[in-house]
Amino acid sequence: MELYLDTADVAEIRELAAWGVLGGVTTNPSLMAKAGRSPREVIAEITALVPGPISAEVISTETAGMIAEGRALAAIAENVVVKVPLIPAGLAACRALSDQGIKVNVTLCFSVNQAILAAAAGAWCVSPFLGRLDDINQDGMQLLREIVEVYRTQGYQTRVLAASIRNPLHVTQAALAGADMVTMPAAVMRQLVKHPLTEAGLQKFLADYRQMAEATA
Ligand code: G3P
Repeated sequence: MELYLDTADVAEIRELAAWGVLGGVTTNPSLMAKAGRSPREVIAEITALVPGPISAEVISTETAGMIAEGRALAAIAENVVVKVPLIPAGLAACRALSDQGIKVNVTLCFSVNQAILAAAAGAWCVSPFLGRLDDINQDGMQLLREIVEVYRTQGYQTRVLAASIRNPLHVTQAALAGADMVTMPAAVMRQLVKHPLTEAGLQKFLADYRQMAEATA
């Protein structure tokens, strides 16, 4: 499972890219608004920092507008993936952009049938939003498991990108469910590396070594 960051904060991406574990980055209009800078500039900077797929979302809700925006976004860099919402116009735009060789991430997926439509429209990946389903007392992880199962049994090539991740347990469960990629906020990625026994173990190794070095100096 590839690990993606879900952010438009370039400083955050630079920090975590240094770990050498980043498979890609996803953004959305809300994250762009939070960044408060020109989306085009932000996407260009991210694509230069991270060689993997970088999702950039269209704003238009009409097929023609989405296609035009998608083509402009894809022209920013080779690793741009165009994100379109899971509505009829988005499916049509996905089909058109995919037929032109542009990778499309179909976002805002909340059901297996929507995921089937995304695959049928030629999506490169689909983004089921786990946390937002959990928020309304529905099992986001169950949806992810079902999409992975249906794609596998039906032989769909569309990848599954687990999105709307809220905590480290979501990441473990998404991996167990067989997600191809998972995208998470930087705070969650920072939590993944932490374990009290790692920290305590390191302190003990260093203290023991210091003691030996002092004794033999
Ligand atoms: O970028 C898509 C998705 O990951 C958004 O997550 O936390 O706003 O539900 P969230």
